[in-house]
This record gives sequence, structure tokens and C-alpha cells, in this order.
Amino acid sequence: MGVPGQVRPPGPEIETIGPNTVSSSIATTLQRPDVALLGATPAFEHTLHVGRPNMPDRQAFLTRINQVLDSGRLSNWGPFVQEFEDRVAEISGAKHCIATCNATIGLELAISGLGMSGDVIVPSFTFIATVHALWLQGVRPVFCDIDPVTHCLDIDCVEAAITSRTTGILGVHLWGNSCANQRLHDLAKKYELKLLFDAAHSFGCETGPNHPSHLGDAAVYSFHATKCIHSFEGGAIVTNDRELADRLRLMVNFGFAGEDIVAHLGINGKMNEASAAMGLTSLEAMDQFFDHNRANYATYAAALADVPGVTLMPRETNHKHNFQYIVTEVDPTKAGLTRDELISALRLENVYARRYFYPGCHRMQPYAGLNPRAGYTLPVTEAVAERVMVLPTGMAMSGHEIKRLCACIASIVRQAPAVRAAIHECKDPRLPPFPAWEARTRVNH
Ligand SMILES: Cc1ncc(COP(=O)(O)O)c(C=O)c1O
Repeated sequence: MGVPGQVRPPGPEIETIGPNTVSSSIATTLQRPDVALLGATPAFEHTLHVGRPNMPDRQAFLTRINQVLDSGRLSNWGPFVQEFEDRVAEISGAKHCIATCNATIGLELAISGLGMSGDVIVPSFTFIATVHALWLQGVRPVFCDIDPVTHCLDIDCVEAAITSRTTGILGVHLWGNSCANQRLHDLAKKYELKLLFDAAHSFGCETGPNHPSHLGDAAVYSFHATKCIHSFEGGAIVTNDRELADRLRLMVNFGFAGEDIVAHLGINGKMNEASAAMGLTSLEAMDQFFDHNRANYATYAAALADVPGVTLMPRETNHKHNFQYIVTEVDPTKAGLTRDELISALRLENVYARRYFYPGCHRMQPYAGLNPRAGYTLPVTEAVAERVMVLPTGMAMSGHEIKRLCACIASIVRQAPAVRAAIHECKDPRLPPFPAWEARTRVNH
């Protein structure tokens, strides 16, 4: 086991890793134990996390904060929130933007503002907030399977799930992949369904000129600290529907239409000025953040290309994209170990890779009992939830660290049988509390 606090000395850079592509000096390096779980020191001294915040220019942010403090206007549509709304509308190509305190409240407001009720079709493979927002608004989520490549809604399943109780579709632009396609728009039109998108992951992502609108009736962004562009906490609803926008402006502020006129049901969902100050400063660094993430993605793609059983999600690189998520899938029959075993081995290297959105919302409370057959009707969701491993990126990750991390993954995979055996013996408290290994996917190596 590696000694905490000690780090392996930097070895030779490993550009490509695979059984036939390893240079002899590197091959020699890989003969000795170079996996923390097998006795080496951890590859990283500091823990690498998924979703470390991108920090924009500190001075620019502090200047704005001083302006907020000097003005005494801390919330209630101050000038920074108004400017932030204008910028978000402009970047997303929407006519209207309503900034919110976070995306979850934004989703609830949009669901209510659109008049969704009864059943709404939604993927199970999403962050739980998508589904909670429906449930908290008294709407029953009807879980739908996903496309195995994009991880977004499978349109055939959407069509099959529509009934007389269905009032809308809540699609998710997962990982920044657009869930909006022509068939989905046509279906919504044909059955007179509201079309809402959870765009928490996709701020700044563009699609081709002939691509149908990624806004639907409305879309909701997240500006949480873990997102590429953030405002500490924050969200925004964007729409081209003037009437809906007016309604949402009432609803986000308790329904107030004047000093003492309450014209609509509402809550306090407003963004504050400090968040908008961070949001605006973060937007100023948007190109820098996107370029850095794009370069990180390219480094991962090159370094993982020859690692058997660890596949990086392909990206269309022609369009602007935030590259905020490094999504891999682990195939245990090729990697020789399961995704959970690989994540466990990486923990001891001080790498906190994450499984997302395991085990799927349909297996979480309060939805697990809703449709006992959901496990059978969501085969792609179930398979993907077992395989997805998200790796760290963002401004906090350098190309050198990514190469080193990928070299770790390659070493772990190369020594899969020994790693598997060691995991099952290991009592290190840093190992994630994953369920009984024996019940997991069997591996043929
Ligand atoms: C797909 C998805 N929807 C909704 C949310 C909720 O966003 P927020 O934290 O801004 O409420 C998240 C958060 O990460 C998310 O990933």
C-alpha cells in the first residue's frame, strides 16, 4: 500500500499506452508495482476531484463585489443580475432569460409556468434534481430509456411512452449533448406536449445551423460551482415565449407584480448580486475555460486510445462546446475489471473518479416503487449506469496530470487480475462504499 503523503517520482511520459505500443524503458517501469493498491506510493499527492470550480479573474470579481457593497443593492434584480440575464440570453440565442438561485428551482418554476401536470416523460439517466423538480410540482415522472451513444432520450421510447395522461417531455442535454432533434419536436407538436429541456450541462454548447432549437418551450441552465461557467450557485431559464417569460418573472419573486400586488403563485427563486458578479466574471473567461477543457479532452483521447475497455465518449468538435464532462465507459470484459473496481483502485492514487448517475433515478427514492418494471424497460439506462466513469477536467487539471492519470488507468487495467484480488482484500477506508463485489458484473479476463 502506498504511504499517504508520498508520491511516485515522475516516470517517463507515457503518450500512448497499449500492449504493443509501450516503449522498452516504459515497459520496464511498468514491471515494478506502479499501482498504489499493489504497494506503490500514490500517483498524486493532492486529490484530484471531478468538478473543481474554475476560478475566473479574482481582481475583476472583487471589483464587482465592491461595487455591490458600495451600492447597497444586494438582490432583487440589481444591475449585475440584469446584465447577467442579457448575456445569457445573447449567448444561448434566446429572447428572454430569467436568472434563478439554482437550476433546480429554475426547473420547478418552468414546470409550473408551463402548466405541466399528470405525467411527464423524462430520462432516468440524469441527475436526481431533474426528476425531483417534477415530483415537487406534483407531476409523475415516466421514465424513458436513452440512446447508448449520446445518453440522451431515445425518441422511440418517448413515443411509446405517450398516453392520454402525458402533458410534456422533460429532455436533458446530458454532458452538453443536444437532446433536441426534429423527431422530438415533431412528437411534442403532434401530441400537443410541452417541451422543456434540462440544460444544466450545456451552457455555451452550440449545435449546427440546421439543428432544431435546443430551447424547446424553455430550457434551464445550471451555474453551480461545478459547472464550466458558474455563479457559486445559480441557474437561468431561457425561452422565446414572451408570455411564459412574463409569468416566470412574477413567479421567481413570490408573484409580486408591484409593491403590494401579488398577481401569481410564486416563490423566492431569485439570483443575488454576488452570484451575478461571479457569473459575469466567469463569462468573461468563457473562451479560456472552453479552450482549456477542449485541450484536456484531446489529451484524454490520445492517452486513453489504447487502453482496452476504457472508452472516451466521442465529441463532435466542429461546434462550440464546454467539454465540461470527461465521460468514459468501462467494459469489464475488455478491461478485466469493473468500473467500480477501477474507480476504487484510482481512489488509492488520490483520484476521485465518479460514477454518474448510478443507479438511475428509477432506483432512487421516492421513485423506486413507482414502476417496479422500470428495470426491464430501461435496459440501456441500466447498462450505462454500470459502466460510466467521469474523470476530472477543468482549469485545475493540467495536460501533464491527465497523462499521468491515464498512465495510472493503463497500469491498473494491465494488472487487472492482481488489482481485483487486492481490492477484495483491502480494508483502506478511502475505498468507496460500493455494494458487495460478488454481486457485480462477472469478468472474463
Ligand atoms: C442534469 C442536471 N440537472 C439539474 C441540476 C441541478 O442544478 P443546480 O445544482 O444548479 O440546482 C444538475 C446539477 O448538477 C444537473 O447535473
